[in-house]
Amino acid sequence: MVKGVNSMIKIAVMGYGTIGSGVVKVIGTNQDSICKKIGEGIEVKYILDLRDFEGDPIQSKVVHDYKVIAEDPEVAVVVESMGGVEPAYTFVKAMLMAGKSVTTSNKALVAAHGSELIAVAKEQNANFMFEASVGGGIPIIRALNSCLTADRIEEISGIVNGTTNYMLTRMADAGCEFSEALKEAQEKGYAEKDPTADVEGHDAGRKIAILTSLIAGQQVDFEDVYTEGISKLSAIDILYAKKMGRTIKLLATSKQIGDTYAVMVAPFLLPQEHPLYTVNGVFNAVFVRGNMLGDAMFYGSGAGSLPTASAVVADVVELAKHLGKHIEIEWRPQKLAIADYRQQSARFFVRAACSKKAVEDAFGEVEYIEVPKAEGEVGFVTAQMKEAEYIEKAKGMGNIIQMIRFH
Ligand code: HSE
Repeated sequence: MVKGVNSMIKIAVMGYGTIGSGVVKVIGTNQDSICKKIGEGIEVKYILDLRDFEGDPIQSKVVHDYKVIAEDPEVAVVVESMGGVEPAYTFVKAMLMAGKSVTTSNKALVAAHGSELIAVAKEQNANFMFEASVGGGIPIIRALNSCLTADRIEEISGIVNGTTNYMLTRMADAGCEFSEALKEAQEKGYAEKDPTADVEGHDAGRKIAILTSLIAGQQVDFEDVYTEGISKLSAIDILYAKKMGRTIKLLATSKQIGDTYAVMVAPFLLPQEHPLYTVNGVFNAVFVRGNMLGDAMFYGSGAGSLPTASAVVADVVELAKHLGKHIEIEWRPQKLAIADYRQQSARFFVRAACSKKAVEDAFGEVEYIEVPKAEGEVGFVTAQMKEAEYIEKAKGMGNIIQMIRFH
């Protein structure tokens, strides 16, 4: 309706923080080319925030009540960049119910309510998009929803958390401990004061739950995703990794097993030939294997104001081009029973405070890895086996200091 009445698409931005201000900046900087791509003008009519931003050029657009936006028929597209589940969920649902299309960068909202919000958008002949919720500026959501729909996706393995990838890169480059890498990341603004969500893998867990929901076409709850973070990794683990010609990366992985997927987040030892091996610093990358496509990898800036805002504004363009037409996204609300990650096979790198005899009694033939400074322990790599089998054998041996899976 708005499209026919105005030659200008009016949008609103809910939350004028890092991402919301980036959205206004991207639209301001690339206004001409964005308008040409939409085929109409674009104007930010409202900015919803608790603050007033006195003296800021956007001050006149600031509103404090989301209903002003919901009740204004001129607003066709709404950006949600507030973060957190509430009140974002209430506000986004109200916008969709009012017939507006919405794009969000908020992975907590998408992981918890993505399926429902897509259904509400469909009922209203509108759209709910969330490109920026995984991988920041990397186009992975649209790739899965549009470009890779001819494939059955057999695997997604991603470095989807820039904070931990920066820390692991520093640990590898400088040989420092986890605590030093964290301090450095916090000083550079790459890690929060409370880094739990990033370093314990919860952020990556939400992101792989979203990606798996999209490739499976139904709900994957992030609470069901087995998650290990990087806080128990140490400089000596990095030494072992280097000795093996490998690197340690926090991977969020989803692998097809029959009609379902085994989904997990954990540190993995990657060989040099793996495409994710060279993804360093705050960069993100998502490796996808399709049954027709074979392998593909999506690489780029996974966080930050402008890269994330770039993905949000690309959604705004897509939404503006499809006013009054729902774009199908298959994400049914029925919960997917994900496979037990312990049914997956791997080789396991283990450090244990025991004798080689005890290792061989438990695991049979293994490959020993020796590094300087590793006193009072043995480092070894097991043969390929199911993780359930590894757990049984490790229980029998005892005294495990560390275990990291090969990828
Ligand atoms: N802390 C997150 C990261 C922010 O580093 O990936 C983007 O989700």
